[in-house]
Amino acid sequence: VIVMPAATPSPVRPVTWVGGPEGHLRLLDQTRLPTEVVYKDCTDVDEVWEAIKMLRVRGAPAIGIAAAYGVVLGVGEAKNATLAWPKAQQVIAHLKTSRPTAVNLFWALDRMERTARQALAPVMNLSSFQERLLREAHAIYAEDAAMCRAIGEAGAGLIPAGGGVLTHCNAGALATADYGTALAVMFVAAEQGKKFHVYADETRPLLQGARLTAWELQQRRVPVTLICDNMAAQVMKEGKVQVAVVGADRIAANGDTANKIGTYGVAVLCHFHGIPFYVAAPSSTFDLTLADGTGIPIEQRDPKEVTHGFGRQTAPEGVAVYNPAFDVTPARLISGIITEKGVIRPVTAENVRKVIGG
Ligand code: MRU
Repeated sequence: VIVMPAATPSPVRPVTWVGGPEGHLRLLDQTRLPTEVVYKDCTDVDEVWEAIKMLRVRGAPAIGIAAAYGVVLGVGEAKNATLAWPKAQQVIAHLKTSRPTAVNLFWALDRMERTARQALAPVMNLSSFQERLLREAHAIYAEDAAMCRAIGEAGAGLIPAGGGVLTHCNAGALATADYGTALAVMFVAAEQGKKFHVYADETRPLLQGARLTAWELQQRRVPVTLICDNMAAQVMKEGKVQVAVVGADRIAANGDTANKIGTYGVAVLCHFHGIPFYVAAPSSTFDLTLADGTGIPIEQRDPKEVTHGFGRQTAPEGVAVYNPAFDVTPARLISGIITEKGVIRPVTAENVRKVIGG
């Protein structure tokens, strides 16, 4: 019997595999939060693709994990063992088209591809092939939870007692297997008894900060105040923020970091106000094949997210819209990158290599 790795008794479980190799994927539908806690069961790979594309499951590590389970579902559609390998390749290629920026998606799918290739070396039957793939997906899940916990422990000391912490988008348990990355740092600091206050940017256009981060912090009883993105400068000027911590979708070899659109602006504001700006991410978010951030593909999303936020039209018909989902913060604006292997500081290509390898 293959058992899904146990996470902590977390109030938040974004990705769950139900059953054995013939089971299905259960996603907490993040488009419905915070007003409704609704789960979506995915029984085929197209449903997983749609869930990633539409942000029902989102956040760099979480989409990698969901895609890994999507491969298990997809391979189940192969008619026999001979067709299992071509099916695996086809499903992996398809899932790679769901979103372009978070490298964790490609990292997890490449890992599933290696596993599939090895599993087929001595020709197996379809069910043992699926079983091997499910074990790998569970391993990806369990490793992510462990990395997030380690990130929290590595970074908790950076949260100033009695201070204010600004974060952008959602890099919490919802975005990972458990704990999160940026929020893990806050959760561990809170567990250690530190008192501090979080300011959550609402994060236009899809409001991950308002809908998800504020909700998650409330669930864990960490004091949080929600602000609109354009209030961050004023809140900093008022002396309410002593550190900023955000997540990442892809980090180049020199430390340049892609994260949710608006993150670069937060880093610039921190620089101006002399506030340390930290990125928190697992090693699976590094893309050492890119020398710097200029090569990071930036997802462009539907203009309707800007003109019709959550259904209501808020812009004139036919107006031109630019809607990049991510931006790149240059390494020199980043005080440190908190990883499960320790804090990279100062952020240089040499230090990235030392801590992450490659
Ligand atoms: O578009 P999203 O909601 O998937 O964007 C998510 C982010 O930008 C997160 O900050 C990032 O993935 C880090 S998650 C630990």
